[in-house]
Amino acid sequence: MTLLEKYNRMVPRYTSYPPANFFDTAFGEADARRLISDDAGRRPQSIALYVHIPFCRKVCHYCGCNTCGLGSGRQVAPYMEALRREVDMVAALMPDGIRASEIHYGGGTPNVIDADTLISFNSMMMSRFAPTADIETAIECNPAYLDRRYADRLLDAGFNRFSLGIQDFDADVLRMVNRDPSALPVDRLVRHLQGSGASVNLDFIYGLPGQTPDGFARTMERAADIRPDRLVTFSYAHVPWLKKNQTLLDASRLPSADDKLLMFERARQILGRAGYRQLGLDHFVLPDDSLSVAFEQGRLHRNFEGYCSTSDSVYAFGSSAIAQLRGGFVQNVKSVTDYISTVSGGHLPVERGISVNPKVRTVGIAIEQLMCNYRLRWDDVARAAQCSPHEARQACNAFGPQTLADMEADGILSVSPDGIDVSAEGRIFVRNIAARLDPLAGTQGKRFSTTA
Ligand SMILES: C[S@@+](CC[C@H](N)C(=O)[O-])C[C@H]1O[C@@H](n2cnc3c(N)ncnc32)[C@H](O)[C@@H]1O
Ligand code: SF4
Repeated sequence: MTLLEKYNRMVPRYTSYPPANFFDTAFGEADARRLISDDAGRRPQSIALYVHIPFCRKVCHYCGCNTCGLGSGRQVAPYMEALRREVDMVAALMPDGIRASEIHYGGGTPNVIDADTLISFNSMMMSRFAPTADIETAIECNPAYLDRRYADRLLDAGFNRFSLGIQDFDADVLRMVNRDPSALPVDRLVRHLQGSGASVNLDFIYGLPGQTPDGFARTMERAADIRPDRLVTFSYAHVPWLKKNQTLLDASRLPSADDKLLMFERARQILGRAGYRQLGLDHFVLPDDSLSVAFEQGRLHRNFEGYCSTSDSVYAFGSSAIAQLRGGFVQNVKSVTDYISTVSGGHLPVERGISVNPKVRTVGIAIEQLMCNYRLRWDDVARAAQCSPHEARQACNAFGPQTLADMEADGILSVSPDGIDVSAEGRIFVRNIAARLDPLAGTQGKRFSTTA
């Protein structure tokens, strides 16, 4: 049996731990208030903030994000007002003086909000949570609606990270998925943003209808020439039973599984030759990027917004937003209408969540370390989890019946008393390795969701 056959198992993606299917709808507003008070009560040095703007001018037929059509735009003002109220409610639970190291506007399409409104909202956030000197202010933009004036207003207001959804440079592919191309030539836009001191990320998707290995390779060549600081190649997730908009795609034009693999492999080669370093499955960064440096030092982290170099708690606002706090996760309601009405009624708009005990948190820290850095050190896990290295190993099944001996024999990792190192061949199996450390693996939902 080949290694691919042996390890071809259903394992969680581990974008959070516990995975989101363990979040429980019995978790309510009182639980959320307790998690926020506990997290902020320990006076963290800094926190990260996430603000969700769900609106899109046109919904792309492939989209799997939590979005809604902008329509006439009449929901925007009440939504922004609800965001302010939610921020006030959360800030009231926190001691003064907590600083923000990062604020991320995601969506949907945050750049459907006019620049004045967004800048004034951001100033309000900075008055509630004092920014650190090197705060990262990041925004996801659809470049079809991004003009120079809008970009300059944000740059002047201190926005210093721009993530642009390109998906593919081929106009036919974009047409097929109901998406408009960039309003400005992407190379000029990126040069302008970088020239103004901002870092730029470009998003791409492979596996869309009409895409071919040759066509996507051309897109990657062009992307590498533009030299964004970061680049993500998402594998298209086709889940039409969950996302009704995807039923509008011409499924007969979806590339085969082999072609999809080839698209990724060629992208990896092109970006590698152009000097990009691969992080995780789908992120590529220039060698001097802060994420590349963090990886080299074994301190890369991940939250729902992507890779980062801090392990700060994330306080999240807006419909569907997920807060990642020391004691667990809180997800807001997904419907924009429900979000506005719940917040207007003076309540936190909680849909589901989970409290985690210190043991589960320890496992989460170990899995995050392994997934991001392809290595873990029990000392580092113990320090972050505030336990002993022995307790960290115990929490992760490391003394249990599930040893890693067969994986070591397969050459995908090496184990030492200090920790675990994933080999170059083992990187594609990192989720399988994480699952061996995971006491919840193979269980479904709430059974292991524990209270603090
Ligand atoms: C919130 S959007 C980015 C900002 C902006 N709305 C845009 O489209 O340019 C986040 C990214 O998720 C990716 N994405 C959306 N739906 C996806 C799907 N079904 N499978 C894989 N990636 C997807 C796209 O690359 C998209 O740029
Ligand atoms: S890809 Fe971006 S613009 Fe398109 S529907 Fe999704 S969030 Fe909106």
